[in-house]
Order: sequence, then C-alpha cells, then structure tokens
Amino acid sequence: MTRGRKAGGVVRLVSVAVVLSIILVAIQSSFFHPTTGPVNLSTEEIRILSHFQSNLEQCVANRGLGLTAHIIDHCNLILKFPQGTNSTWYNEQFKIFEPLEYKYDVCEAILLWEQYRNMTTVLTREYLDSRPDGWFDYAAKRIAQLGADKCYNQTLCEEHLNLILPAKPPFHPRQFRRCAVVGNSGDLLKTQFGEEIDNHDAVIRDNEAPVNEEAILMKIFVAFPFLLADNEVLIIKSVIHRDFNAMIKKIRNPVYLFQGIVLRRGAKGTGMKSIELALSMCDIVDIYGFTVDPGYTEWTRYFSTPRKGHNPLQGRAYYQLLECLGVIRIHSPMRAKRKQDWSDVPSREMINNAHRAALLLKKKQAGQEGGLGQFVNCKVWGKSGPYGTGPVSGSTDMTDTRKYSNYNRWEVMPFESLREEARKHYIQMEGVSLYKMDGNKLDDLVCVKHPLKS
Ligand SMILES: *[C@@H]1O[C@H](CO)[C@@H](O)[C@H](O)[C@H]1NC(C)=O
Ligand SMILES: *[C@@H]1O[C@H](CO)[C@@H](O)[C@H](O)[C@H]1NC(C)=O
Ligand SMILES: *[C@@H]1O[C@H](CO)[C@@H](O)[C@H](O)[C@H]1NC(C)=O
Repeated sequence: MTRGRKAGGVVRLVSVAVVLSIILVAIQSSFFHPTTGPVNLSTEEIRILSHFQSNLEQCVANRGLGLTAHIIDHCNLILKFPQGTNSTWYNEQFKIFEPLEYKYDVCEAILLWEQYRNMTTVLTREYLDSRPDGWFDYAAKRIAQLGADKCYNQTLCEEHLNLILPAKPPFHPRQFRRCAVVGNSGDLLKTQFGEEIDNHDAVIRDNEAPVNEEAILMKIFVAFPFLLADNEVLIIKSVIHRDFNAMIKKIRNPVYLFQGIVLRRGAKGTGMKSIELALSMCDIVDIYGFTVDPGYTEWTRYFSTPRKGHNPLQGRAYYQLLECLGVIRIHSPMRAKRKQDWSDVPSREMINNAHRAALLLKKKQAGQEGGLGQFVNCKVWGKSGPYGTGPVSGSTDMTDTRKYSNYNRWEVMPFESLREEARKHYIQMEGVSLYKMDGNKLDDLVCVKHPLKS
C-alpha cells in the first residue's frame, strides 16, 4: 500500500492517503462486492497509527539524545543520527561504514514485540509433542552433536534433551511485574545501579561469553521469594551439547533451553533474546549495560578493537525504537542524573490501540476480513495435561545433586501461587500456551491447550 513511499511531504502524503481512502471506501461500498474489491485502507486505523507515530517522534526527540525520528507514513519511519556522528564501524560484507540512518516498519514492530508478551519462550516437551516435525526435525536442530541429521531414533534425542525439558512451560506470561535485563557491559554499572537492579522481581543477566562454541547462557535471578543460593535459573540460548549435559548434572540450578531462536542466525543478537525472554514473563523490562547508551557519538569507546558483527549504531537506533514503542526502558549512566520520567513513552492503552490498528490494517491488506481473535495465528494445535502436572525436567536422569535442585518449584508451582495478572491472562487465554514456530515469523504459532482449573 503506502509502504515503500519515499520521505518528503510527509504530512501531505498522510492526509492525501486519508482523503483517497475515504473516497475509495465510498466508491467501493456502492459499486463493488466488499470482499472482491481493491484493498481499502481504513481511515480509523491510519488515524490511530499516525497519532502513535507522532508520539514516537516526540519520544525519540526527548529520549534519543540526538537521534531523531522522521515519519514516512503511518507505518514507516527513519531514525537518524545527528550529522557529524563518527561512523567508525566498517562492515566487511557490504564494504560500507555503518549508516547513520535506519528505516523501520513500526506496525510490524508493534505486532512482533507485543506478541512476545503472550509467548512461551522456553522449550518444553508439550511443544515438541505438538509440532508434527517436533521430535524428528526440530529437536534435532537443538542438539549440537547431531548436526544436520534428524532424530531417526527419538529415544536417543530424548536422552540429549531430557535434562532440560520441562513437560509444560516453567514460566508464564505476566509472571513478574518488573524485570531487569543486564547486558555484558553491566559490570561497569554495578556500583551505580546495583541496588536499583536488585530491586526488580527478576534479573536476567546476559552472559555473552560463550561457554562453548554453540551454547550461550542467560541467567535469571529471582529476588523473591527464594533463597539466594537457589534462586538462579540458567537458560541456554542456542543448542544443547553432550559436554553441557555433563556440566548440568553437577549443578543444582534449573536449566532450560530458549525456544524462540532463529536457527540459522545462531547466537547473534543475544541481547535481543534476553529481551524476548523477559517480555514473555514481565510487564516492565528495564535494560542496563547494553552498550546502547544514548548520546555517544564516539562509538569506539565501547569496544577496544572493532570486532566483526558489531553494529553499534544500528543497535542503538533499534533499542531507541523499542523504548519509544513501550517495549523496554533504557538505563544508562548518561541518563542517571535525569529524572526517571516515562510519561513520553506510550501508555498501555495507546499501545493496545496501535496494536489493534496495525493488526486490522495487516489483515485488510492481505484481504482477510475479521478473525482477529487471540488464536488467529495458531497454525498447529496441541493438547497437554492440566497446569503443574507431568514429569519435571531431568526426572528420568536424576543425579544426587539435581535431586536437591529447586527446579521443580517452577514446574509444579500451584496455579494459585501465580501472580494475579498471570492467572487472569491464563484464564483469558483459555489455558492456551503460545509458542513460536520459527523465531522470526510473526504468523505461525504452535498453540497448546491445557485444561482450565475448575
Ligand atoms: C572518526 O574516527 C576515526 C577512527 O577512530 C578517526 O580516525 C577520525 O579522526 C574520527 N573523525 C572525527 C571527525 O572525529
Ligand atoms: C535408539 O537409541 C537408544 C539409546 O541410544 C538405543 O538403546 C536403541 O537401541 C536405539 N534404537 C534403535 C532402533 O536404533
Ligand atoms: C495477549 O493476551 C491478552 C490476554 O491477556 C489478549 O487479550 C490478547 O489478545 C493477546 N494478544 C496477542 C497478540 O496474542
């Protein structure tokens, strides 16, 4: 539709689009059958999204410390670094220095990131059982030694995965109110932000130092209500490994495998994975130490030598977009002295409206009317037992150390012990857990139904 139009005359373009679509709708409803006529743009959705865009523009102006947003249309915008920003990051692949401007589809971004709030991001047995290719194909990709082979022998694959495979989701959407995600430059912030970070309901620490080539750990520390030594959960971000299994048997902590990875991209963008994980269980996600601090123009400060695959400008722009979409809150030394004021970040209500508008628009453009229910993207359905039942992870291969682990506290936690918001969500979702089929696909979900508690 209006996507792909170049910048310039922005306001005029939007208003022309609005007028045109009013006329189109009027003509269409009188002459054509509504389902076979040309795609009609909805003026109401465009109005809501345009309003959201101006709010975003203002938010970037207030919080970006130099970054500016330039609206192209109701869905697209460009984030620009100020002139004079030193782009010292040379991309070997494209033979260019990092660009100083980035185009984003805000509608897609809202759909993607709001979806994470309802998602299960930890791999479970019910997920593998529900996917038609779950064990044979998908599980095989999550085990390092098998390489490209499939799980011709499911027993063998189960042996690899049992240790880290809970029967049902160990964590739930809306389980925590506030979570902190601490990036790999987090240590620098310890003295300044330590207490603030510890005041969260859960802390996700992104450990980018590879444990081995493939597996990367992410730790969740939960401040409440467990004791310190036992309150750490490990999440492996890419694939399980035989050596890794041996290590897991020696520790008491629960260990799980992150589900929503994009398989071909491997361990890249691990900061994003932590945010996805956090969003799948927390209302508010505060990020610390992510080398995306606003206001810097000298990017070489962050890394001693330019490493391949680092795109600090691109990262910085994207994180700023996420903040102004209401997905994360960026905390940085540059902002420490500023008042913690989030009034320019969109409210829950505003995000919900924009999400609905973006969804309606997308459906109309695809020629699909109606069907906006919460299960509209469920491509595959599965069934599982009631909440809190089923074997706990590792129960078929329990070392003495793991027998005293607390992981079953998550996996068999009574429904009644969940936070009220999480229980409400569960009931509203009719006991259905949503999983991604593939990490970067918006539309294909695996949906597993659990019986509701009577
Ligand atoms: C940009 O960075 C490069 C590499 O660090 C440096 O040689 C150059 O002088 C810088 N340019 C400006 C304008 O700061
Ligand atoms: C499958 O793997 C298990 C465990 O390694 C082994 O005991 C069993 O014999 C294998 N089954 C077949 C049919 O190869
Ligand atoms: C997310 O869950 C809420 C219920 O808590 C539901 O109303 C909403 O439609 C869901 N959204 C998506 C994108 O699944």
